[in-house]
Amino acid sequence: MDYTKTLKRGENVTHYRNTYACIRLDYLQDNVETLYQKVRKPFMAIIKANAYGHGYQQVANVLKDNPHISMFGVATLKEAIDLRNIGIQQDILVLGAIPIEDLDLVIHYDITLSLFSKDYMNEIKKLYHHQKTVKVHIKIDTGMNRIGIKSQEEFEDILTHCQNSIFQVDGVFTHFATADDPLQKEAYQSQIDMFYDIIGQHSFKYIHCQNSAAMMYHHDERSNLGRIGIAMYGIDPAGEECKELKQVMSLYTRVAMIKKVKKVNV
Ligand SMILES: Cc1ncc(COP(=O)(O)O)c(C=O)c1O
Repeated sequence: MDYTKTLKRGENVTHYRNTYACIRLDYLQDNVETLYQKVRKPFMAIIKANAYGHGYQQVANVLKDNPHISMFGVATLKEAIDLRNIGIQQDILVLGAIPIEDLDLVIHYDITLSLFSKDYMNEIKKLYHHQKTVKVHIKIDTGMNRIGIKSQEEFEDILTHCQNSIFQVDGVFTHFATADDPLQKEAYQSQIDMFYDIIGQHSFKYIHCQNSAAMMYHHDERSNLGRIGIAMYGIDPAGEECKELKQVMSLYTRVAMIKKVKKVNV
């Protein structure tokens, strides 16, 4: 194993033991480029859960200057604030539900929230007491069955309420449940059809639905932003070996001892 050479490259190293995770931030950039060459649209980099365990600070710091990354996506408000606190200036969308009581933080840190139901919208309106508008992306649930509205009526209703209001609708999005499964192409198709049926002819700054698998195994022209997660970290979404992507994290250890043991029949 090329242990010392890896250390010299200045990558993340855990000290005091011979086992460590090596994070290749240059591979991260290569993967972004590979995915960009496939879909040729800007990306929201998904760096929730400590950037899928790769270290959100280091990951965000290299991605913030990548010309293909237009914004960041995280799961919680805490993760969004952490990104602001390390100087990330791009828009940050919280993909999950932000507690209404934390609305002041949303405004203070200029965070974009997912608007996922009429009740949630009304709750925000009730509590709101700021001058600035609240940036939102409307979440449509087309089959993942997480948060999100499920009908065109509800969508139109929310849009109407958002016009000339405290809300600034910057985007609309959905999330696929099965884009990584070649046996479930129909489920993917029904989700994307439902997404565009619900949006109708409305246009938005950002229309986004493609996660890594959707970008790698399917084609979509209308969405204008891709959300890259697992593939950016170099992992094939279907769990196959993938020559196109470079695995960003590798685990190394130094073998302490090799010994022969007797076979035991149990
Ligand atoms: C709403 C949403 N979009 C995109 C992603 C990124 O998905 P992937 O890692 O499959 O690219 C996630 C990850 O959980 C997500 O929750």
